[in-house]
Amino acid sequence: MIAIDLNFADIQWQYHILTTFFVGVILPLLYYLYQRYFTSTPNKYNKLEAAIKLDYAIPDEAKPHWKGRRLHPPHVTVRTAEDRASIQSYCPATTQYLGTFACTTREQMDLQIEKAAFAQKSWKESSFAVRKQLLRTLAQFILDNQQDIARVACRDSGKTKLDASMGEIMVTLEKLNWTIAHGERALRPSTRSGPSSLLMGLMKNAEVRYEPLGVVSAIVSWNYPLHNLLGPIILALFSGNAIVVKCSEQVVWSSAWFVGMVHAALRRLEICEDLVQLVYCFPEDADYFTAHPGLQHITFIGSKPVAHKVLQSASKELTPCVIELGGKDSVIVMDDVSDLKALSSILMRGTFQSAGQNCIGIERVICVANVYDSLVEILNERVGKLRLGSDIDQLDEIDMGAMISDNRFDEIERLVQDAVAKGARLLHGGKRYLHPNYPQGHYFEPTLLVDVNSTMDIANQEVFGPVLTVMKAGDVDEAVKISNSCEYGLGNSVFGANFQRCNDVANQLESGNVAINDFATFYVCQLPFGGCKKSGFGKFGGEEGLTGLCNSKSVVMDKPLLRAFGVKTAIPPPIDYPIADDKRAWGFVSSLNTASYDNRIWKVMKSFKKLAKGGA
Ligand SMILES: *[C@@H]1O[C@H](CO)[C@@H](O)[C@H](O)[C@H]1NC(C)=O
Ligand SMILES: *[C@@H]1O[C@H](CO)[C@@H](O)[C@H](O)[C@H]1NC(C)=O
Repeated sequence: MIAIDLNFADIQWQYHILTTFFVGVILPLLYYLYQRYFTSTPNKYNKLEAAIKLDYAIPDEAKPHWKGRRLHPPHVTVRTAEDRASIQSYCPATTQYLGTFACTTREQMDLQIEKAAFAQKSWKESSFAVRKQLLRTLAQFILDNQQDIARVACRDSGKTKLDASMGEIMVTLEKLNWTIAHGERALRPSTRSGPSSLLMGLMKNAEVRYEPLGVVSAIVSWNYPLHNLLGPIILALFSGNAIVVKCSEQVVWSSAWFVGMVHAALRRLEICEDLVQLVYCFPEDADYFTAHPGLQHITFIGSKPVAHKVLQSASKELTPCVIELGGKDSVIVMDDVSDLKALSSILMRGTFQSAGQNCIGIERVICVANVYDSLVEILNERVGKLRLGSDIDQLDEIDMGAMISDNRFDEIERLVQDAVAKGARLLHGGKRYLHPNYPQGHYFEPTLLVDVNSTMDIANQEVFGPVLTVMKAGDVDEAVKISNSCEYGLGNSVFGANFQRCNDVANQLESGNVAINDFATFYVCQLPFGGCKKSGFGKFGGEEGLTGLCNSKSVVMDKPLLRAFGVKTAIPPPIDYPIADDKRAWGFVSSLNTASYDNRIWKVMKSFKKLAKGGA
């Protein structure tokens, strides 16, 4: 009895020690490790990752009421007659001159790509903590300087500050925040189920490891000079790559400043700034860049004719490409939409934001007949009230800014005229606009065109301008048919009171992205982005955007338990060269197949027996 008591006390004593150890040491240690390595919010254990304040000057040109000299025709253009090797930057809203930039030469491109490749060699070893800190530093700078950054974008693209705050700043902050929160998980090795057969499955573990490609590139469009440029930089750097961005010749001035901002952040964190390079040249000189053997990946955002050239020259080095072209995005308005007023607000924002220069802007409103007239009436009233101008210089309230250039005005006017000639009703706009304060600025009237049908060019060709096009459909099926009838398949929306019906429509749309009862939010929430049909191929953004910039390396290995016991994969004697006995070798492998893949138990037993006898 006494002995047992003693033993019992012993156990109690050990139990107390263990509990104390667990509560006092293991739990705090786990908590520390969790805070240090597994949470993405900065705290006292991982403050290494916190944002660092940047010193980066705002250019005078972005200050309100900046007095820059205005260009006058025929000099209001990025390509001057005098100097074919330079790009002239100017503000499309006011035509104020912003600077002249020498096109990147071939020799410079070689050097930039070489420097980027060198910098990437150490960057690819960097920790996610450092990468997150870099993104946090950028995010903090953007948050603290929203006004000024918006003005830089407005000055170079002619959009309004509100357009910039939504389309440039908000989406960029979301991309930064999302990447910090979820990027690491997306890039962690992905464990796979391994071989399905019992025999091999018992032996092997399998996983995919995402390794940076090296130097990637992005050829980006001008419509969102901050966001389009920073998006690929964020994903490239976070996945351990270096990046060479080719910006559009329309927005060199702001692109240079935005890349300077990234360089300032890299310098501040003592990371080699060669990781991020900017090139610019005229499209016809871009072949050298897209055919460059130093690039391991190209993301192209732009138009179809240019995409043909990019793919052609990229094919010389078999450089993989993600291609994002235009769209003819539709909004389907179902017959049971309850609040047409609220819907009209979304249609207005989706069409006139950035003067309609949006890859995923609303190009077609396809409205079912019973709500058509009411919707047209509301839109008619609202579009007529839109005011044009440049709000970084003008004190009056404005709704819509300038377009990037006037070189597509003829075509947009022609599309409107073609539709009117074929029976469409033009309720507002339809032509270029002479702004009293900025007569040389590139303004186009906010346009409302209704009763459009598929016989008209505007129903099929991308406008990329401030034209709200409304089409009538007899019923929901016809609306879907109209929506799918064009060659593009980038983004769509469907609005209706009954979710199930909207969901059915979403499933029938030939499209890369669909928003149900919303517009374009699929872009904001960092889903993989890209179109189908003639809108391009491949995805950028989100998890696929990160892993798409990596070599997905498939790795197979022996299970840890087998490694511990020194069990190794070996070629069994019956099938080892030279084959001693052909019949036996055949018997061995065929039994292995039966043992692995046959469901009939007696067959499996028999083949195990045969295997044990070496196939005999
Ligand atoms: C993202 O933003 C939210 C809201 O400000 C913030 O609480 C969160 O910590 C941010 N996430 C990361 C990963 O920084
Ligand atoms: C297109 O609209 C015009 C004018 O309303 C009409 O004459 C024509 O029949 C319509 N075509 C189709 C295919 O609906």
